[in-house]
Amino acid sequence: MPRIQIATHLRFSFMAALITGFKQLLTFAGPAAPRAGGAQGEIGLVKDGAVLIEGGLIRAAGPERSVLRHPLAKKARNIAVRGVGLPAFVDSHTHAVFAEPRLKDFSLRTAGAGYAEIKASGGGILSSVKAVRRQPLDRMAAQLAGRAERFLECGTGTIEVKTGYGLDRKSELRSLEAVKAAARVTPLEMLPTLLSAHAVPPEFKGEQGRYLDHILSEILPEVVKKKLAVFADIFCEKGYFTPEESSRYLSACKLAGLIPRIHAEQLSNYGGSLAGAAAGAVSADHADYADKKAMAAMRRAGMIATLLPASNYFLGLSKYPDARAFAAAGVPMALATDFNPGTSPCWNMQFVLSAACTQMKMTPEEALCAATINGACALKLGGRLGSLEPGKQADIAVFDAGDYRELCYYFGASTNVLTMKKGEVVYRK
Ligand code: NIG
Ligand code: FE
Repeated sequence: MPRIQIATHLRFSFMAALITGFKQLLTFAGPAAPRAGGAQGEIGLVKDGAVLIEGGLIRAAGPERSVLRHPLAKKARNIAVRGVGLPAFVDSHTHAVFAEPRLKDFSLRTAGAGYAEIKASGGGILSSVKAVRRQPLDRMAAQLAGRAERFLECGTGTIEVKTGYGLDRKSELRSLEAVKAAARVTPLEMLPTLLSAHAVPPEFKGEQGRYLDHILSEILPEVVKKKLAVFADIFCEKGYFTPEESSRYLSACKLAGLIPRIHAEQLSNYGGSLAGAAAGAVSADHADYADKKAMAAMRRAGMIATLLPASNYFLGLSKYPDARAFAAAGVPMALATDFNPGTSPCWNMQFVLSAACTQMKMTPEEALCAATINGACALKLGGRLGSLEPGKQADIAVFDAGDYRELCYYFGASTNVLTMKKGEVVYRK
């Protein structure tokens, strides 16, 4: 894989660097807050741009001729690029810790089976659980580190990673330890989320309340004590967890120090967004069936709607989340891959951009904002990531394009040519 050697970037890390040659630079300059409504369409476009970096941070970003006048620019080493530059993608929803692809489910689905039928046939989330429970930590961590390279190659600098395929104390903790171990060997930043409430494991069949209590008393305290997770998530859906269970559970996780988020309204309008709002969730994710009431509650609670159209595509659904309604309701939208073995085996944010524009009628501007600054805000990292402004971390992706809309227009491949993390080139084509 064409990664730059570690020694090379260490040598330069304290030197200023000047990146020149951006035909267009998308800065997303503005408040470190999620952008909604009309503001979600503002990309901070600069023609013929440059970025000046020092100590892993952006010192200046704007038109090349003005950046060149900065006192640091003279001494800086030059990195010449050609194309469109923007903040590296922040993929705020993945289930990247899993053992095996679900190819049997895939065949069943191509033969016409739906989510519920696949679950009934022994597939679905619980089949991934069997595989994860057997997997040793070193294998799990190596697999995740390998996947991290794929994200970097596509211009993603940060991902959120959920557990949820272990569903017992040992395997959930091992999944989080795997994120920690993988983070030591990849420059991709990974934010861990405890999603032990992803499904009810066979040992607790029919006793989901007791399973939630088990997570709260046996798994959560150790996760918090070892500082293994930042967020807590729950799958609020018929056959999984109810809105009441979800708000009770997320409130307890919040009290313990984790930031709540929720899988809500993915398969039905079940009330997950309201439960999330009640528990102080930062984001309601999927939101395919969110109605006006859900959107109003999200807006009031300052939540982000994280939309995941790659899963709709993969499941062959004709219904997608209603991006126009979210925009009209003033709810900020983030876009993420939902990378997972069951509903979205996709790590490429450019595919997500395409699906958001073609299937959900997001504008390219809204979609790019959703994949950068709003994704960062969905991870509570809007103050550090998601825009190219002085003081922000130098996480930058460069695409082989003359116009930023090409990122959403060409689909099925990545056109990323360079990914920079904390001012270091971590991928170059
Ligand atoms: O986000 N909805 C719940 N979780 C995943 C699917 C998990 C699976 O099928 O393995 C999702 O789509
Ligand atoms: Fe998900």
